[in-house]
Amino acid sequence: MKILVTGGAGYIGSHTVLELLVSGHDVVVLDNLCNSSIESLKRVEQLADKGITFYKADIRDSAALKEVFSSHNIDAVIHFAGLKAVGESVNKPLDYYSVNVSGSVALTQAMAAAGVTKLIFSSSATVYGEDATVPYKENMPRGKTSNPYGTSKAMVEQVLTDITVAYSDWSVVLLRYFNPVGAHLSGSIGEDPQGIPNNLMPFIAQVAVGRRECLSIFGNDYDTEDGTCERDYLHVVDLAKGHVSALQATEQAGAHIYNLGTGTGTSVKQMVEAFERVTEVTIPYKIAPRRLGDLAAFWADASKAEQELSWRAELDIDDMMRDTWRWQQNNPQGYKK
Ligand code: NAD
Ligand code: WQD
Repeated sequence: MKILVTGGAGYIGSHTVLELLVSGHDVVVLDNLCNSSIESLKRVEQLADKGITFYKADIRDSAALKEVFSSHNIDAVIHFAGLKAVGESVNKPLDYYSVNVSGSVALTQAMAAAGVTKLIFSSSATVYGEDATVPYKENMPRGKTSNPYGTSKAMVEQVLTDITVAYSDWSVVLLRYFNPVGAHLSGSIGEDPQGIPNNLMPFIAQVAVGRRECLSIFGNDYDTEDGTCERDYLHVVDLAKGHVSALQATEQAGAHIYNLGTGTGTSVKQMVEAFERVTEVTIPYKIAPRRLGDLAAFWADASKAEQELSWRAELDIDDMMRDTWRWQQNNPQGYKK
């Protein structure tokens, strides 16, 4: 198939582009590079020994979208492009609604005009909301989101679902990711956050490589086994392969929802211990106050993706630590030389 990947230069996008190429698909990427580097795609081309067509453009740029669809016979779209920093979204809600929601509307309008009706969307476990019981299952209703980022994901899910109601030939796959971490086995592509990392795994990796002094663990008084929050971490290569598997769901019209997670929770302390054990590097940490908006513990019921897509996460926490460390050691400053 020929796949348009929006946001394909980013963390999850670049790993997915690689898996698509090695599975025999052709890939066109549209990305404005606001949170990524073209270097990631150059490395993907090297790893796959195959070229990528790249458009540097904003997802809200209808003229650019029109040009992409008129220049290529696109069979399906995988839509990663968006803003993803939860804290920033509280202070800049309009940016998040503009890029994430209006951007998705612009994309689907361009798809409709070009007669492209298959879409896979990067959603998030955050749409289950604050009060859902674990494990999260796809048939639970979307819940109350606590920040504009989460709300934007829930809104886009609704927009896309409405499209499938109105147009019987559309097929939309909503993939709800849990906590993606890790890097490609080669160590040449990985997560490269700008500024201070918001997320746990890149923060640990930057402490290990000497870019940060000490990890703050946000709270150790949660109602969990060791008092720190539990999350369902999954390897980004498994997640990328989940998108290749999800292409089969686009053969059937309608809206299809899948959790992509492992089905297991791991605590912050267990993550630090695993990193130290696998890499033999000590991570200095201190206990800091709870972070606003954090939930104590959640993980996926991952059975639907296994039953219907024959996809399940194959890589474990040790693999995630090993591959994060290989990427961070090879690229201490990320994609910057
Ligand atoms: P990322 O920031 O690395 O990738 C997003 C890409 O989109 C970047 O390359 C960025 O340059 C591009 N982009 C942003 N705004 C754009 C715009 N206006 N026009 C064109 N391109 C634009 O993030 P990621 O971690 O790879 O996440 C990819 C998607 O998955 C996002 O939609 C994110 O919300 C979603 N998601 C991520 C996680 C996670 O933990 N990383 C979890 C759940 C969902
Ligand atoms: C994991 C755990 C922190 C950093 C976020 C978004 C979610 C999705 C994935 C989407 C939490 C703790 C973290 C640190 C810490 N994003 N932590 N010290 O919050 O589960 O999910 O990313 O696009 O929508 O909310 O992931 O990696 O930020 O945090 O103690 O310096 O690590 O408190 O318990 P989170 P995270």
